[in-house]
Amino acid sequence: MITKDQLQEIGIFVKDYLKESASSSDQEWTQSFPRAADHRWQHTLNVLVNAEKILEGEAASEEQASVVRAAALLHDVSMFTCDHSVHGRVSAEITEEYLAEHGYPDSFIQKVSKAVAEHGTDLGPIPPDEQGELFSWEGKVLLEADILDKLGASAVTNALLYFGEQGCLSHEVRRNLADGRAFERADFFRDYIWTTTGRKIAEERFSFFLEFLARLKEEVVEVEIPAVG
Ligand SMILES: [Fe+2]
Ligand SMILES: [Fe+2]
Repeated sequence: MITKDQLQEIGIFVKDYLKESASSSDQEWTQSFPRAADHRWQHTLNVLVNAEKILEGEAASEEQASVVRAAALLHDVSMFTCDHSVHGRVSAEITEEYLAEHGYPDSFIQKVSKAVAEHGTDLGPIPPDEQGELFSWEGKVLLEADILDKLGASAVTNALLYFGEQGCLSHEVRRNLADGRAFERADFFRDYIWTTTGRKIAEERFSFFLEFLARLKEEVVEVEIPAVG
């Protein structure tokens, strides 16, 4: 079982790694986003807390919980060092190296790095049910926790921050949010959830997203004189 101190240590390692790799990254999107490392760290913590909710709801064993907690902290550690399409595998390599250096047992290292690698899978080609059968239980929980951060108030907040930075006004947000990437991502990913607890939280969060969109459409008009009377 992983201790609180060990989790803290892993967290500090990930936070420092993100900061250093972001500051030396030659990726254009990282350079144009000065707080990229802080943003990724915030996401990492959100994922850890989401995972905790699933672990509790699914009555996970201590061993399963240890694997998922470590994997949640390490899952995006490589974000600024490689192409997004391979970041799961690269994060898994960094995970393996870190855990081996710190004397964790082999079986634990294998489970954590497997879950980390699985979270980076391209989810398009295989339907959710079949895809779930290919993953370890810990990998599924990690992926669910990751996806939950794309579905609810967190996703809306990130989208609004992005639109604000682009100089959008509220009627443009209305359009962009409903037809844009945040909604598309939420709508696509919400099916890739397998545990009962994960599904329950995903549905709640997606409903909130839809309700927010509906209210936005009701309250914010396009910039034309609306038909009244
Ligand atoms: Fe990721
Ligand atoms: Fe992530």
